[in-house]
Amino acid sequence: MVNAVRFTVSLEQGLLEQFDDFLAEKGYASRSEAIRDLIRDQRVADRWGDDQQAMGTITLVYDHHVSDLSEKLTAIQHDCHELILSTMHLHLDHDNCLEVIAVHGPGRTVQSLADRLISIKGVKHGKLTVTSAGRELG
Ligand code: NI
Repeated sequence: MVNAVRFTVSLEQGLLEQFDDFLAEKGYASRSEAIRDLIRDQRVADRWGDDQQAMGTITLVYDHHVSDLSEKLTAIQHDCHELILSTMHLHLDHDNCLEVIAVHGPGRTVQSLADRLISIKGVKHGKLTVTSAGRELG
């Protein structure tokens, strides 16, 4: 690892045990890698808001039998076509669809698109996940 710096962290015993349980659950081989990922995740969460450029995915699960739902979701995506890079649609079962929409654009605008899609009646679950390939992640 380039320019790695070692430092000491002091934690209460109970908090350390929780951290080690977290490592085991997630499959981390070392505390260092888990701490690196937690810092990166927080940096992405802190930096993408407002006018910062954001990229990520909007995941939707919905019942395509709900009246006009598919048409509403498509109309909103056409309204915001400049934010959408690609859409993947999977027919999960007889009733349910999973849609994954890759997005990029100003953070506030991407969040607004996600909110519009997720809040429509009939969308059972939706989530915006923002990521980064930025140099700030090390
Ligand atoms: Ni479908």
